[in-house]
Amino acid sequence: MGSLYGAASSLSDPTALANPLQPPDLSKCHPAIKGDAGDTADCCPPFSDQIEFKLPSPKEPMRIRPAAHLVDKAYIDKYEKAISLMKALPDDDPRSFKNQANVHCAYCNGAYDQVGITPSVALQIHFSWIFFPFHRYHLYFFERILGKLIDDPTFALPFWNWDSPDGMQIPAIFADPASPLYDAIRAPDHLPGGSSPLVDLDWSRSAASLTPEAQWQSNRDVMHTQMVSGAKKRTLFFGTPLKAGDLADGNGQGTLERTPHGNLHIWVGDLTREYKEDMGNLYSEDMGNFYSAGRDPLFYSHHANVDRMWDLWKTLGPRRTDFTDPDWLDAAFLFYDEHARLVRCRIGDSLDNKKLKTDYEPVRIQWRHSKRVPKTKSATTTTKKKRELTDLSKFPLVLNKAISVAVPRPRKNRSKAEKEEEEEVVVVKGIEIDRSQVIKFDVALNDDDDGAPAGPRDTEFAGSFVNVPHRQKPGASKFKTALTLGITDLLEDLGADGDDTVVVTLVPKVGEPVIGGLKIDYLAD
Ligand code: C2O
Repeated sequence: MGSLYGAASSLSDPTALANPLQPPDLSKCHPAIKGDAGDTADCCPPFSDQIEFKLPSPKEPMRIRPAAHLVDKAYIDKYEKAISLMKALPDDDPRSFKNQANVHCAYCNGAYDQVGITPSVALQIHFSWIFFPFHRYHLYFFERILGKLIDDPTFALPFWNWDSPDGMQIPAIFADPASPLYDAIRAPDHLPGGSSPLVDLDWSRSAASLTPEAQWQSNRDVMHTQMVSGAKKRTLFFGTPLKAGDLADGNGQGTLERTPHGNLHIWVGDLTREYKEDMGNLYSEDMGNFYSAGRDPLFYSHHANVDRMWDLWKTLGPRRTDFTDPDWLDAAFLFYDEHARLVRCRIGDSLDNKKLKTDYEPVRIQWRHSKRVPKTKSATTTTKKKRELTDLSKFPLVLNKAISVAVPRPRKNRSKAEKEEEEEVVVVKGIEIDRSQVIKFDVALNDDDDGAPAGPRDTEFAGSFVNVPHRQKPGASKFKTALTLGITDLLEDLGADGDDTVVVTLVPKVGEPVIGGLKIDYLAD
């Protein structure tokens, strides 16, 4: 097919010359931008010579990451000690907690430009296929630094098991104000003991108060959509290609990066936006803005679970493998290792956690099978009123209320083999947002107008667009991206696979993005 991601992708053209993203030039690092008022943060790391990454020796012990809600006292003591030591390192030591948090800040909020590209293009490690490998390396070095500080080569970070009913709260080890694992800048109502402490993986900035059972059912269905039914092609799961010179915004994030990854950033962060005498302007710190997310120790456990999902995704079906495209494999980043050396790391060396001597403690996975039902068949819905339709010719438009559009399907009733070959996708094109704001909108298919739009538990719900605030440049902060959602299973489950059109409903949840258009397409990779 090739047209979907256009010239930006060498997936579509095997003869194109490889042009992988290059690591930044640290000597040209400039201040990162926090938010709309243009306040800057100095996230630049100390500069030094770089070496090439080498895999750890096969003789090194495995580091087995435990679930954060299951760790014992001895583990907590060890982890707290390691974080305290890291926080005590001086500011000129790249291994200090502050500098480690700044690694993320610099790669996310515009401190680096892509090397050798004019006019300048910011380096951005979200919104594309480099999201998973970048964060894997970040955890890898963060963990090894901690292990070195306590002289324990088996030390492994805990993962926040938010995909299980027992992990649906901020883990207790991060919630004790006396602990070095605590962070004071979080949404108070989401703390254990707060007014809505249960993790909502589909959070839309509303105070949901579901029972634990109902919240778990919703979270389970979110996980199934993001990992199984909606992630049957690589670009759907990892995000779309990005090579040197491309704006990161392109065609966008993979399933997991949006939800639950992005949702949980804004769920944990304190979304306050105001000026405070003692703190200056607030921009959803700490977890709710990329520049500050790494200051919360919970960030690293959140990302450990995101990383665990990469491993799990590859076990869930036949064609679920890593990309083989050199533009992905040879893209590279810089990190500091446990000896404070600057290391150049290729994506290609990060694909196998076992080779990195990292693994995850096995826990029960309860979202493999879908329990979703169409709204028309669920007990809570009685009416069956068709939605009023907006014409495709009305785009671009500002999404300030729910709209429904009948979108033609070029093909219908495809064979099983055709469906395996190409995933049917709905593409929301030309999404224009202010990158410094929280933005979320939902997408549903053939959803009747019965008052409540489809949610994660309904078959009709296809997914959401989610933006975690991050500012890259002073001045303009608009950016354009797209959202691609896999819908082959969904259409079958709705009994709509023989229809000529599908009614796509867009529901704004937070913010008012501009939407450029909608189409149905077929995705091979
Ligand atoms: Cu780089 Cu969870 O963010």
